[in-house]
Amino acid sequence: MTNYKLSLENISKSFGTLKANDQVTLDVRPGTVHAVLGENGAGKSTLMNILYGLYRPDEGRILVDGQAVAIDSPRAALAAGIGMVHQHFMLVGQLTVTENIVLGMKGQGLKLDLATHVRKISELSQSFGFEIDPEAEVMKLPIGMQQRVEILKLLYHNAEVLILDEPTSVLTPNETGPFFELLERLKSAGKTIIFITHKLDEVMTIADDVTVMQDGKVMASLPKSDTDPANLARIMVGREVLFQVKRSSHASGPVVLRLADVSASNTRGLTALDQVTLEVRAGEVFGIAGVDGNGQAELAETIAGLRPVDSGRIFLSDSDITQTSISDRADKLGIAYVPEDRHRDGIVLDESVAQNMILRTYDRAPFARFGFFNPGAIRDHAERLTSAFNVRMQSVDQEIRFLSGGNQQKVILARELEGEPKVLIVAQPTKGLDVGAIEFVQQQILVQRDRGVAVLYISTELEHLLDVCDRVGVLFSGKLMDTVDSSEATPERVGLLMAGVAA
Ligand SMILES: Nc1ncnc2c1ncn2[C@@H]1O[C@H](COP(=O)(O)OP(=O)(O)OP(=O)(O)O)[C@@H](O)[C@H]1O
Ligand SMILES: [Mg+2]
Repeated sequence: MTNYKLSLENISKSFGTLKANDQVTLDVRPGTVHAVLGENGAGKSTLMNILYGLYRPDEGRILVDGQAVAIDSPRAALAAGIGMVHQHFMLVGQLTVTENIVLGMKGQGLKLDLATHVRKISELSQSFGFEIDPEAEVMKLPIGMQQRVEILKLLYHNAEVLILDEPTSVLTPNETGPFFELLERLKSAGKTIIFITHKLDEVMTIADDVTVMQDGKVMASLPKSDTDPANLARIMVGREVLFQVKRSSHASGPVVLRLADVSASNTRGLTALDQVTLEVRAGEVFGIAGVDGNGQAELAETIAGLRPVDSGRIFLSDSDITQTSISDRADKLGIAYVPEDRHRDGIVLDESVAQNMILRTYDRAPFARFGFFNPGAIRDHAERLTSAFNVRMQSVDQEIRFLSGGNQQKVILARELEGEPKVLIVAQPTKGLDVGAIEFVQQQILVQRDRGVAVLYISTELEHLLDVCDRVGVLFSGKLMDTVDSSEATPERVGLLMAGVAA
């Protein structure tokens, strides 16, 4: 099946009054990487969920080699040669790689015993250079490897088309290169890859063709060689994108947040922060660079009060807050924290957008008066914030679970950036956002800075960090390697520190 040709013809899908896909027609050339780009809420995931049989289109057809195929379940999709890896993996942690792969296999597969599956999976893994042990317990594999298991699973079930929804968002910068090499090998073997991303440089690296969506429609579908990042951004957002926010020079004030020799352990009881000392001033953005998992999460959590310190002290202005409770830090002292795992920590999926906007302030005026909710005020507040942050949705009464991934992020960022904190800790604020939204969020962070907030900005995306930070500190293995002034913080210099090479 090397000539597996997939086409979508006039696919439309509405949710209530919202047209998430509007007459989408798309040709995917066999043996290519086809990137799908578009703003948050443009309809990318919806389209892929239709292709994968999770949603039924209201109209339109899916064609394989010119023949219409009925895809009414993921099983039917796989039978038609189409597989998908979601952003949130669907593996069972306690089972082995092989068990996960053969799980739910019907017919043919059942006739083979497990040992035969192990052997065949091992062969398949080796032939594509996956480097996966078929007998490893999935839970013990790093995220990048779990992603490979998902892909291997699809290949084992003879998928010809692999749909990958923002696959690189779970990878560290070091893992992205090898991941792209893997995609190249799949391509050489004739597989077709549909690749959703917000990162234009990735499109330029790996894609053969690009389709840009906006408001449910296809705006352009073209070979990569006919376009460039600025052009793609323009088609996507409908205006010029700066790519680099304008940053005025700043005069920072006194030290607001100070960590003195702070050490802390991670959830497994191992040292995650190792005698970190740093200062963030009023009106300053202090960046924390580093490969994911080098203590960033623990750093943010100790400052927010979610994680106890093993030793060392934390000061806000001159007072020692090392033992202050989480709620006092947030409410009385003005330490705002936007966590990285916003799905786990930031939102209540069953609640409306409006309710999610007041998760911590619902009991205060104007949202509550004399013990009663004030729906008008709650709505107005949500309307104002969602319009400022360009959150795409049907109404503020909609359950937040129905918003696209990026728009959920925007709701939380809007809520957290709206208060008047003294200290703002943001972890990975640009993750999952489209280029226009990234620009906006970065501007908002600078607005806070200019108002005198001490900002700690944690990101694995070095370029985004260097765009907005005044100083950058690099975490490696729980240690603060060095702090560099932004004027001297070249990607090369910071990159070396990120790899643990001291200046
Ligand atoms: N089950 C649903 N019910 C109601 N609305 C939905 C549902 N699924 C998606 N939508 C809406 O359809 C639109 C398109 O969403 P989709 O998830 O396809 O966007 P996306 O392009 O993947 O965005 P992102 O880049 O943020 O992931 C959004 O406005 C979203 O709120
Ligand atoms: Mg999506």
